[in-house]
Amino acid sequence: MPDEEKKSRRIDWKKTFGLYHYLAPYKKIFIPSLVCLFLTAALSLAFPYLLGTLIGSPQEALKSGVDPAQISANIDRVILTLLGVLAIQAFVAYWRVRGFIKAGEHALNDLRKDVFARLVRLPMPWFMERRPGEIGARFGADLGILQDTLLNTIPQMARQLVIFFGGLIVIFIVSAKLSFFMLAMIPLVVLVVAIVGRKIRKWSKDAQDQLAQSNIVVEEAVQGIADVKAYSNETFEEDRYASALDDFLNTTLKGSRARAFFVSFIILILFGTISVVVWFGAGMMAEGSLTSVELTHFILFSIFVGASLGSFPDIMSQLQKTQGATERIREILAHEVEDARPGTDSPLTGAMAARDLVFAYPSRPETNVLSGVNFEVASGERVAVVGPSGAGKSTLFSLLLGFYEGQQGSLAFDGKVASEIPVADRRSAIAVVPQEVLLFGGSIRENIAYGKPGASEEDIIAAAKKANAHDFISKFPEGYEALVGPRGVKLSGGQRQRIAIARAVLADPKILLLDEATSALDSESERLVQEALDELMKGRTSIIIAHRLATVKSADRIMVLSDGKISESGTHQELIEKQGTYRLLAETQLL
Ligand SMILES: Nc1ncnc2c1ncn2[C@@H]1O[C@H](COP(=O)(O)OP(=O)(O)OP(=O)(O)O)[C@@H](O)[C@H]1O
Ligand SMILES: [Mg+2]
Repeated sequence: MPDEEKKSRRIDWKKTFGLYHYLAPYKKIFIPSLVCLFLTAALSLAFPYLLGTLIGSPQEALKSGVDPAQISANIDRVILTLLGVLAIQAFVAYWRVRGFIKAGEHALNDLRKDVFARLVRLPMPWFMERRPGEIGARFGADLGILQDTLLNTIPQMARQLVIFFGGLIVIFIVSAKLSFFMLAMIPLVVLVVAIVGRKIRKWSKDAQDQLAQSNIVVEEAVQGIADVKAYSNETFEEDRYASALDDFLNTTLKGSRARAFFVSFIILILFGTISVVVWFGAGMMAEGSLTSVELTHFILFSIFVGASLGSFPDIMSQLQKTQGATERIREILAHEVEDARPGTDSPLTGAMAARDLVFAYPSRPETNVLSGVNFEVASGERVAVVGPSGAGKSTLFSLLLGFYEGQQGSLAFDGKVASEIPVADRRSAIAVVPQEVLLFGGSIRENIAYGKPGASEEDIIAAAKKANAHDFISKFPEGYEALVGPRGVKLSGGQRQRIAIARAVLADPKILLLDEATSALDSESERLVQEALDELMKGRTSIIIAHRLATVKSADRIMVLSDGKISESGTHQELIEKQGTYRLLAETQLL
């Protein structure tokens, strides 16, 4: 256990800075900014030095009988130098900050783009294992940590290191004896900081995790707000959030004792040390072994050194967070993408077959959803798939789309095993009209154009006409520019479906996968959707998961999926005569 804790506390620099090669293209800005950073840090040491001289020297000079007029001239010179140094520092800092932001945000943007590009290409099971809210929150939080580290912590660390070591050198030059006296008191401070600090860090990490959990509740509630309201579950969600918040609060309160002790200890020890050192220094002054300028320098530099020492725990904990964030981001960047093979230009003709296809979801490996599916669909054929709810119809579509791979058996397109065909080719040959149409929160035009990015205005309108959508779209005051709302909530179910159909028309695929909505549309919308679908299916291979008898009857062939297999296949008439599962389904569910 202690070993593990040690491991988690130690900072692995290679891991922490594992993503900083993103700065390489901007090194012409970044490196000079880094130099400026060290320069301003070094210059900031002039401040306590000149200030000390300013405070201590008049007294010193008076004591040794220097002319007061000359003392005034001297202190004028010191303050002018001080102002000059401040001006240079301000000037350099201006360029440093601009350079850091410019190089840093450019690099971060490159990184954000790369991570997102990778994220959307990760295989489907990766997404299924995680809650959508969690992925979004982590994505934002981890990149936020990197941004904070790059733009704040690294400059802070460089500055504090220069001040710490520079200050230490100065106090030793001023008085080694006094320095040793002061340093003798440090081990106590370091010990307490190490022990209490570690506890505080652990608590604050736990508290952060719990806060993140509570934010997932917020995200889920907002995403599913319609369901929350429809079931009057506001109170339930409130309780869920409150209990997540209570966990957070409990942890925070547990940590508060240590934190409070830490703060009061620091106050006591800091001012205590200063008082004792001043007392000791005053004694040295009385003996004549220390001048007042030296003592003032000593005190001012000690405060600087102490303050920079005090900033290290924060810097370290930020670097630890960075290490975690970097590792998680690198995990995404290194994760294998679905299929990196580029699309070829040999189009598929639309013939498909399944051979003894066996499939279980990776999250439920012990339950086979498909347990030996066999079928063949000829190019241009229209096949209806029917089967009880949960039989695996939508799952079959996921497999055809290559979201998942079967564990046994195979799928083939145009007689070629699916794995030999780049997923890009397969998907560009297929268009899907899903069971639940979710649109993107843009305009209608954008949502239709999603089927073929860059499509012309005429093509979009033609597609909408074929999909029986043009009429209702034209009735909106904004027409094709009307916004559909998040996930398309501003449109009716039938309208959303027709937008999805228009999208498929525009994509002009060889293969069409239709997952008919189980929810009933009114007869007018249904007629419009049906007409649109009939138009869409012309000249394409279509597989329709059908819930309506009209759709089933219009198919060339019907396949019945039940118990993980295609149990029957034939025309409506043939299957009715067979008196099997289909007949049962047709009598109970489909009619
Ligand atoms: N992502 C998933 N992870 C694990 N199991 C899943 C997943 N998606 C679906 N299942 C399970 O697989 C089985 C088949 O689901 P599928 O969605 O294919 O049914 P379906 O035939 O389309 O039903 P319906 O007619 O109700 O749409 C179900 O038992 C379901 O619980
Ligand atoms: Mg389904």
